[in-house]
Amino acid sequence: MKKLLVKNIGLLATPEGKSAHRGSEQGKIKFLKDAWVLIEDGVIASVGTGEAPAAAGAEIVDAEGKLVTPGLVDAHTHLIFGGWRQNELGMKLYGKTYLEIQNAGGGIQSTTNATRGATEEELTAKAAKALDEMMAFGTTTCEAKSGYGLATEHELKALRVIRDLDEQHPMDMVATFMGAHLVPAEYKANRAEYIRLVCEEMMPLVKEQGIAKFCDVFCEADTFTVEESRQVLEAGLKYGLRPKIHADEIEAIGGSQLAGELGAISAEHLIVCPPAGIEAMAKGGVIACLLPATSFNLGAVFAPARDMVNAGVPVAMATDFNPGSCPCLNMQFVINLGCLKYRLTPEEVLTAVTLNGAAAIDMADKVGTVEAGKLGDLVIWDAPDLDYICYRFGSNLAKKVIKRGRVM
Ligand code: NIG
Ligand code: FE
Repeated sequence: MKKLLVKNIGLLATPEGKSAHRGSEQGKIKFLKDAWVLIEDGVIASVGTGEAPAAAGAEIVDAEGKLVTPGLVDAHTHLIFGGWRQNELGMKLYGKTYLEIQNAGGGIQSTTNATRGATEEELTAKAAKALDEMMAFGTTTCEAKSGYGLATEHELKALRVIRDLDEQHPMDMVATFMGAHLVPAEYKANRAEYIRLVCEEMMPLVKEQGIAKFCDVFCEADTFTVEESRQVLEAGLKYGLRPKIHADEIEAIGGSQLAGELGAISAEHLIVCPPAGIEAMAKGGVIACLLPATSFNLGAVFAPARDMVNAGVPVAMATDFNPGSCPCLNMQFVINLGCLKYRLTPEEVLTAVTLNGAAAIDMADKVGTVEAGKLGDLVIWDAPDLDYICYRFGSNLAKKVIKRGRVM
């Protein structure tokens, strides 16, 4: 048996449990001073305070009196893409909006062209590099979406890349099928036919190959209407894909209400989510997966996170890493923005980036807290307490990242 003992933890901060925390629970964090964590064969065996157990044969990691938290969960990324889109920065600076750039042939379509042109090996190598970087910043579990293939062959290619990386890379990964990210150029005149392709050709193959757990759709002005989104997500359910939805990112056209109605596992973005959407999500038990670095990058307002917490909607926070609306994969920046822009407390933010993120990808029984039985995923921070990592920004404060009991 392989054992790893993390001792001399100045402060261990973790939510507890195996399901999302909402309302006042969102801010409940267990703090243990002078703690230790014993990991056996990649799984947390015990957690305690005071004298560390003898643990014969264990590799010892000295946390040097620092802060330890669960490994961070990035529950929303568009990890698999060809190229980048730095050329859009200038357009943005000269006042073009996200949807204007998209409608001019930039945006998702241009990344789709680059992704279609990339081989599976190229996409794998590029995404692996991003995963290395994410892990260095403290992420130990992530979700990844397809959605830059927008053709059967290329959507399946992206999902295979995610499956292979989940096997090859230390990061634990969960895949989401997002064939309905945009109607690709060749179907612009025949949207219904593209949606048919997504639902009747791509989804059966995704199910048959077992390469995705969730189905997502970009419900937005100029992409997919509420009715089209409903059609896609209901088809996904038939193929065993649980619904997720990009809702209220730019315009509130009813995506959050649809999420509530369908009982989606999560709704994403919610930047301009109206009160009726919050109410619908609370009723439908939907997790709000908020992406503050996207608001930052788009120069948009920030999602009404406090209203969501107050309404009893569990709030998760993730990066949205993608080459357009958020070329940032650093969950520490998300933590900073969660406090500074959403005005959530450090405790509420920690829950958002660990347990609630895990719940948003149906992984809360395995990751998201430091408790016996969960995976041995920890971050030792170059920080004395939780406030410190929320307040410092721009540096990488992850001192050591431990994944399934291995020091990365
Ligand atoms: O989550 N909103 C849709 N998809 C991404 C952006 C994709 C892109 O710009 O390439 C997002 O923001
Ligand atoms: Fe997204």
